[in-house]
Amino acid sequence: MAARLLDGKIVAKQVRESVRLAVEERLAQGLRRPGLAVVLVGDDPASGIYVGKKRKACEEAGILSKAFDLPADTSQAKLLELIDQLNQDEEIDGILVQLPLPDQIDENAITEAIGPLKDVDGFHSVNIGLLTQGAPRLRPCTSLGIMRLLAANGIDIRGKDAVVVGRSNIVGRPIALELLLANATVTICHSFTRDLRARVEKAEILVAAVGKPGLIPGEWIADGAVVVDVGINRTNDGKLVGDVGFAEASKRAAWITPVPGGVGPMTVAILLENTLKSAQLRD
Ligand code: GUN
Repeated sequence: MAARLLDGKIVAKQVRESVRLAVEERLAQGLRRPGLAVVLVGDDPASGIYVGKKRKACEEAGILSKAFDLPADTSQAKLLELIDQLNQDEEIDGILVQLPLPDQIDENAITEAIGPLKDVDGFHSVNIGLLTQGAPRLRPCTSLGIMRLLAANGIDIRGKDAVVVGRSNIVGRPIALELLLANATVTICHSFTRDLRARVEKAEILVAAVGKPGLIPGEWIADGAVVVDVGINRTNDGKLVGDVGFAEASKRAAWITPVPGGVGPMTVAILLENTLKSAQLRD
């Protein structure tokens, strides 16, 4: 069986267009233009690329984008001061601080400083708490993007055995909560999991979110599985690959995300949707 591609570019384009139309509608009604502050600390090249995509997508959707590029040696106090200012800025509906942050800054302190109604990443304990309770408000972009990608391709989740590999606050934990909310039976695997292969082989839905190329050989994938690869790893010859061996996995899976062009575009599209939602929450 050759897997069908879960093409994030196509679905993301539809989401972005619907946000653009909703923004246009808001403006026609005399409502405020949604605004997003995107904060980048340091000069990590991958973070720079992601932030660039987020800012450009905002502009294309008619969302006001304010850029804050801070040096790598920025102190935590300085960043907290900026967040405080943005929390009070009437033009700003969403605040995104790109992760990871330099070592001198405690990421959790930053996440918790962002006002929960401006938390377009959905990482604040209030928003993660609401998702955990099954009553989500602002939801993390990558995991919600995955759910939308699956829904757009008519993939049923209820009752399925879903395996999440990785337990980061950015992807692993939130996608496990999303899959649970959609009534899957969810297993979370991590670096202490014994016999990862046995878990992966049982997955009807597999989400790989570790960031290690070759972590999951394609031979482990069950026939007919849905494979969502969140990993984006650059190989020595400059190619981008995921965490799952694509060539072999796509002979077995029913559906698989490409890397790049799978999950990545969905993260950006949902960020726009969350910014619109933040504006609506603050109207
Ligand atoms: N770094 C990698 N993914 C993300 C994300 O979704 N949001 C933020 N803020 N940083 C990230």
